[in-house]
Parts: sequence; structure tokens; C-alpha cells
Amino acid sequence: MKTRSIERFSPSERWFHNIVMFTFTLLMGTGLGMLYYNFIGNQGEARDFLVLAHEIVAVLFIAGPILAFALGVKKVWAENYRILTKWGWSDIEWLMKKPLTTVFKKIKLPKDDKFNPGQKVWATIAVSGSFVLAVSGGIMWTTGSPIAALIIHTVVAVAMLTALLGHMYMALLNPETRHGVGSIIDGEVSVEWAKEHHPLWVEKMARERVLTRIRNNRDKLWGATTSSVQISTAKGRKEIVGMADTAARIPLFTPSMISENEMNKAQSIKIFT
Ligand code: HEM
Repeated sequence: MKTRSIERFSPSERWFHNIVMFTFTLLMGTGLGMLYYNFIGNQGEARDFLVLAHEIVAVLFIAGPILAFALGVKKVWAENYRILTKWGWSDIEWLMKKPLTTVFKKIKLPKDDKFNPGQKVWATIAVSGSFVLAVSGGIMWTTGSPIAALIIHTVVAVAMLTALLGHMYMALLNPETRHGVGSIIDGEVSVEWAKEHHPLWVEKMARERVLTRIRNNRDKLWGATTSSVQISTAKGRKEIVGMADTAARIPLFTPSMISENEMNKAQSIKIFT
């Protein structure tokens, strides 16, 4: 049972991932089946069926995620894009130190955001590989399998299958990371796990929650003569009480009145007016 939980993936992110997960697995299965029939030199009905299934699933593989993305919250996708494509020295440091941590447990890694650098590498392989597979597959479908497209398609598919096995190991078997697997179904992970594995992301979520609450209650905070904001962190509660200058329409609370640390560590926020 999860204790306190936090939403890691929105419905659109889950639909996106899970459509890709199912269709990609089917594409790999039917693709490997076709390769097998090529090797044994059998071009019969069973192979034709696999080709048809591969083509139908390929359409779902491309259209499904585009639809899930289009129906999702753009801010979430923009943030994912930002994290997954932004590379810095701390990512290189993480990738170099990570293998050493299996032996030297005390080595400290840079703090992880929503995705760690290993996940960023996989996401880059998954997106660019899928793009190459879709383009080379489209060329084969429409122009009768030129040899260059066939070789590129097969080599990239086998390389991605190898990387996918690594991803599946991390998601299903690795004791450190497998806790997150439920998040692709219900979107949730426990706060404790998230703090340990993605501390920067948890802080960002806490800060965002505080700012949203203040933003949503701005009119109340501006209108009342006295009001207070209570922030609770693991270390205790802090109440900021003040008088609103309603005549000058000066807001009682601006985010700068709460320290960065309190916002990042906020477990709950209460607003009294
Ligand atoms: C086949 C079984 C699969 C399983 C069990 C699985 C499981 C998961 C899980 C649990 C996560 C969330 C990890 C976290 O907590 O951050 C995840 C993320 C992700 N998955 Fe999958 N996945 C599968 C297939 C795929 C496929 C086929 C692709 C793409 C071709 C894919 C691409 C991604 C990407 C890009 C992410 C975000 C980065 C990351 O967390 O590594 N997954 N997957």
C-alpha cells in the first residue's frame, strides 16, 4: 500500500506511454516473426498476416501518442521536453558516477529532477529511434521495401529492442527503481520514494502547489483586512499573519514572503481569511 502519494504522471502521459508500450511490443513481436520467416525462406500466408498486423499496429503506434499528446496539458509536456532535452555537466557527472555507486555506496550523485540522466538517455533513444522506424517503415510500405530502408529499419529495431530490455529491467526488476512501475497505471508514487529518487522534482511540485494556492486565493487575500498563510513542513508550522492594504490593493502575501526553502519543503498550505 502506498503511504502519502504524489502524482508523477498525468492521464495524458500515461495514455501516451501505455499506447507506445503495447503497440511497440506488438511491433517487435510481429517484426521478429517476419524476420524469422525471411530466414527460413517462407513467404506464405502466416507471414502475410504478420505484415498486415505490423502495418495496422504501426498506424496506432504513430496516431495514438499524437492524440494522447494533443489532448494533454501542454504545460506538463513542455516541462517534460525541457527536462529531457536539457543537458549539463551535472548530467555527465551523474552518468559517469552512477556505475561506480553499485560498488562504492557512499558516492553522492547530483540531485535528480523528474527524470534522471539515465532516463534522459533512454527517452532520447526511444523518441529518435521511433522516428527513424516510422520514416523507414513508411518508405517500405509505400515504395516496396528498398534495401537501404529495410537495413536501417531492422538495425534500429534490434538496437531499440536491446535498449528496451534495459528499460524493462529498470521498470520491473531493479529493486531501487521498480517502485515506480505503478505510476504508469494510476499515475502515483509514494512521496518518500519520490523524495529519495527525484528530490528536485518533489521540491518543484511543492513550490508550485504553494504558489498556485496563493494565486488562486489572491482575491481573498487582497480583499480581507486580516489573513494568514500557514505553511507546514516536516520541521513544523509557520504562520504568516498580516493586514492587507485593501485601499492600495497591495497584496498581503507575495511569494517572496515565504522562504524558498519553506516553499520547497511545504507539505501543506492553509489560507485563512
Ligand atoms: C514494455 C514494457 C514497458 C514497461 C514495463 C515500461 C515501464 C515504464 C515505467 C514504470 C516508467 C516510469 C519510470 C519512472 O518512474 O520514471 C516508464 C517511463 C518511460 N518509458 Fe516505459 N515501459 C515499457 C515500454 C516502453 C516503450 C516500448 C517505450 C518507448 C519505445 C518506453 C518509453 C518510456 C520513456 C521515454 C519513459 C520516460 C523516461 C523513463 O522513465 O525512463 N517504455 N516506462
